[in-house]
Amino acid sequence: MTKEQLYKKYAKFYDKVYSKRKYDEEVKFINSIVKNFRVKGKNLLDMACGTGTHAKKFDDKGFQITGVDVNSEMLKIAKKKTKKVSFIKGSMQSFKSKKKFDIITCLFTAINYNKNISELKTTIKNFYNLLNKNGIVIFDLGLIKGKENKKTGAFFDTYSEKNLQIARISHLSQSGDNPDIYNANFLIFIKDKGKVDFEIDEHELGIFSVEGIKSIMEKNGFDVKIYDDFSLKKYTKKSKRPIFVGHK
Ligand SMILES: C[S@@+](CC[C@H](N)C(=O)[O-])C[C@H]1O[C@@H](n2cnc3c(N)ncnc32)[C@H](O)[C@@H]1O
Repeated sequence: MTKEQLYKKYAKFYDKVYSKRKYDEEVKFINSIVKNFRVKGKNLLDMACGTGTHAKKFDDKGFQITGVDVNSEMLKIAKKKTKKVSFIKGSMQSFKSKKKFDIITCLFTAINYNKNISELKTTIKNFYNLLNKNGIVIFDLGLIKGKENKKTGAFFDTYSEKNLQIARISHLSQSGDNPDIYNANFLIFIKDKGKVDFEIDEHELGIFSVEGIKSIMEKNGFDVKIYDDFSLKKYTKKSKRPIFVGHK
C-alpha cells in the first residue's frame, strides 16, 4: 500500500493523534527568530507542511504562506483549515518556485525524511535557492546520530472523544541493515462511530549528526545558529531537540 492510499484513511486522524503538541510555542519561537534576525519580508514556505496546522497559525500572524508536502491526502486536510494559504504538492528536495521566500520552515522531524547525506545536501541546497537574500530557514532535528538509544523502544498512546477512540503502538529502532536509518513503525487502531479498523504505518528516516548538518548548511552558504528545543537558549549536548536556523 502506498503512503497516499494509507493516508486516504489515516490523514484525517493525524491531528487527533498529535492533539497534545505545542504548536503555539513553536510558532511563537519562530516569530521571535524572524524578529531577531531582522527578516524583512513575510513570505513563508512551510515545507513538509502536513495537515497545515502551523501554516494556519502563521497565516493568522500575518505571514503569506505557501505550504508544500509530498502527500496529497495531508494537503486535503490542510486545505480545509484555511482558504488563504496556497498548498502545493512537492518535495523538499525538488520543489521549485519563481517566487522566493523570506522564511522556510520544515518542522516536526520532517528533515529526517531525507534518508541519507546526499538527499540532505540536495534539500539544504534547494532551501538556499528558494530563499531571498537575508532570508532564514528553520528546522528541528528529531533523530540525532549518537543519541539513537534515547528514542529506541515501544511506546503506547491513546486519544479518545465521543464516537472516536484511537490507540497507537509506536516502535522506534535503528535499522538492522543500515545504522544510519531509523525505522519508525506505528500500529494504529481506530474505532470511528462504532467501526473498528487498524493500519500499519511504516517510516524510514535518516539519522544525522548536529555537526554534520551544520557543516552542510555552511558549505551551502548559510550562517548557522542552533537553539535548544524551540527556546531562545543555545543548543548544548544535553539539549533534547536541536533547532537549526540558517541565515542566507
Ligand atoms: C512528521 S510529519 C510533519 C508534518 C508537519 N510539519 C507537522 O509539524 O505536523 C512529516 C510530513 O513530511 C512529509 N514529507 C515526507 N517526505 C517529504 C519530502 N521529501 N518532501 C516534502 N514533504 C515530505 C510527509 O508527507 C508528512 O506530511
